Amino acid sequence: MSDEYNNRRNIKKMLYLLPLLLLSIIVFDNINQNLFAYGFIIPNSSRKNTKRNILIYENSNESFSNMNESFLKTEKVRLGFIGCGTIAAAIVKGLLTTEPPRKNSLLPIPIESIAVTSRSKQKSNSLKQSFPDFVHIYENGAQSILDNADVIFVCLLPEQISQMISSLKFDCKRHTLVSLASSNTLDELIKDSCLPPEKVYRMICLPSVARQQGGCLVVPKGNTLLKRMFEPLGGCFECENEDIMKAMMIPGCLMGPLYAILQSNRDWLVKHGVPKGDASHFVAKQYLSMMQDAEFDSRNPSRFDDLVNEQTPGGLNEQSIENLKELNVFKDYEEVMDAILSRLEGKTNGFISSRNS
Ligand SMILES: NC(=O)c1ccc[n+]([C@@H]2O[C@H](COP(=O)([O-])OP(=O)(O)OC[C@H]3O[C@@H](n4cnc5c(N)ncnc54)[C@H](OP(=O)(O)O)[C@@H]3O)[C@@H](O)[C@H]2O)c1
Repeated sequence: MSDEYNNRRNIKKMLYLLPLLLLSIIVFDNINQNLFAYGFIIPNSSRKNTKRNILIYENSNESFSNMNESFLKTEKVRLGFIGCGTIAAAIVKGLLTTEPPRKNSLLPIPIESIAVTSRSKQKSNSLKQSFPDFVHIYENGAQSILDNADVIFVCLLPEQISQMISSLKFDCKRHTLVSLASSNTLDELIKDSCLPPEKVYRMICLPSVARQQGGCLVVPKGNTLLKRMFEPLGGCFECENEDIMKAMMIPGCLMGPLYAILQSNRDWLVKHGVPKGDASHFVAKQYLSMMQDAEFDSRNPSRFDDLVNEQTPGGLNEQSIENLKELNVFKDYEEVMDAILSRLEGKTNGFISSRNS
């Protein structure tokens, strides 16, 4: 009798507890989903997909939507580099030393391995030494890079590209081709590789990507994997078409002139009695701080106008701008940019004299 009574009481208790249990499951699931949706937690499935990339994502709906779309599906990628010179080494270093993602930035791509050709032994050996778990050197020519990688970067001189690419056997399903050369067009790369257009890209960057600075230009736009790979290298700028990319390349061609300005500032200081080392260090520091100011809020389209306008009225900087205008320096810069663009377009040899003749 008492057993039966106890059983009944237990069943009653369970009936009371069941809705409570169901309610707590629903509430917990909601909290969990919200945490996930706002990026506070990472699902286990994505944790196991990463070896070295930092996964705790900042609270950002934009980043979550990217993660939601593709990250969960992303396997680790195998990269290959044909030509292991200055720019290849910079990209590899940049990719393998990325910092945790910043707010609103895309998660980096998890990298499984990086295959590089053996030429320029000093560079390939040094990459292998720095990143022994990731970098593998292949001695048997470029086809072995294709056999051991899925995203293939071609970092050869423009005149070597066509012959190299047409000698290789790409797998249309597996391979994506990214050419770093400045002048070989998408049409040429597609023709030489026999890959479908959606598998062929051009990318332009400066060696500063090794320190995740400077930004990468990519054309055509729309490849999420490449965007996420290049975003941590200082930013990924997808170009609408190759003409836009050509124009966007021109400020990068003023890197040499910028260094020449630093050089002339240094020499001017030396002429005025400053020791050369101090002059060099001081000039570099000054320009760095100016560029950091310029970069801050640089998505604001009037950022540079604001900086120019905030120079003290009647002050030394405003006067320097006026003097340079008087000497036509800014117009001259524009003309130099036009000349370099016309060389990229194959219209002239890029010299101002040839443009004017
Ligand atoms: N450097 C930059 O700042 C920069 C920026 C943007 C774009 N780019 C473009 O990137 C490309 C590479 O430039 P880079 O400055 O990196 O040139 P680089 O330092 O001269 O590198 C070219 C590399 O290709 C290798 N190579 C040549 N023929 C090869 C072959 N048949 N098989 C395998 N490797 C071969 C060279 O090896 P060896 O040394 O043994 O000949 C060298 O390691 C160029 O198209 C350039 O316009 C460069």
